[in-house]
Amino acid sequence: MIEATASAPSKFVILGEHAVVYGEPSLTLAIDLRFRVRLRYSDAFRVNGQTASNRNTSPHMRYLYDLHGGKPVSAYVESDIPSGSGLGSSAALSVAFAAALQALEGQPLDRAAVAKDAYEAEYYAQGRGSPMDTSTSAAGGGVALNMPHRKEDLLWTISKEDRTWEVSRFDTPPMTFVLGNTGIRAATGPLVDKVRRYRESNSFAAGIVDEIGDVTRDGLRALRAGDLDELGALMTYDHKLLSILGVSCPELNSLVDAALPYSYGAKLTGSGGGGCMVALTDRPQQVAKAILAHGGTPYIVHTGVPGVTVSTREAGQKQRHRGRGHHGEKKNADNRR
Ligand code: PMV
Repeated sequence: MIEATASAPSKFVILGEHAVVYGEPSLTLAIDLRFRVRLRYSDAFRVNGQTASNRNTSPHMRYLYDLHGGKPVSAYVESDIPSGSGLGSSAALSVAFAAALQALEGQPLDRAAVAKDAYEAEYYAQGRGSPMDTSTSAAGGGVALNMPHRKEDLLWTISKEDRTWEVSRFDTPPMTFVLGNTGIRAATGPLVDKVRRYRESNSFAAGIVDEIGDVTRDGLRALRAGDLDELGALMTYDHKLLSILGVSCPELNSLVDAALPYSYGAKLTGSGGGGCMVALTDRPQQVAKAILAHGGTPYIVHTGVPGVTVSTREAGQKQRHRGRGHHGEKKNADNRR
């Protein structure tokens, strides 16, 4: 009996969330909070030993199970990623399941195929959104969508309805980020819908979405130049633009304000409405303390982490690892502090 184990990272958005849904660029980094799954074919669908009908699993899992012929599988899952917090927990789940299901069928790890299946699962579950989270979780490291890039940095292209996203990789200078979780869970779908309605009904809001695109392009230039002052200023400005779009909340604003005195910049990250903010800083302990003092949960995160990894084994044998030596395995400079 073959057993497949997969592990996929979460991510945070440096710049570009919400605008990326409309074809603007985004910049994301994979981080060292991961989702892990162990899968094998079984006589019934099970999750962590509990019997679950195919229909009762999450919509992401249901989509992926159906994509692979609907054969019952037993899944053991564990996650470091707080859900509904803007860190792409459902994307990491989808990426890990997509990779493990492909491995169970004997396919070698193909991160582009995993990214595409996982994006379809997210789209099935949410009915909207971009492939930003799923592609970052699949690739690891630093991932840009719809950004000018060197030919060798193109990872893959993903299309849905009338939109196409070019997914490329980028290197980062040494940087330290602290996340602050408000503890407020907010689903991505309604926030994406809110921005869509605002953008469609109001040319001012459409202009803000375009401006987020410009800020994100400037952000990549600042990253490439290692200009953390400029990158931080762009992050803080982006937080203001996202607030105008109506996706911040008082708790996020309070954590951003608390972090700013010790940071290059800070902003909400992900869909907003709660969830997490992120600060770029060289004083992570002070930022973490400030976040804690304002009611948030801080995470000093490590970037430059591998994308999805998979291993298979015959039950009772040693694991065979796949996915070593791909993009994202190498550490990005000295990000671990
Ligand atoms: O909150 P998260 O991690 O699901 O991030 C959502 C990012 C959005 O840009 C708001 C939506 C998307 O699919 O790109």
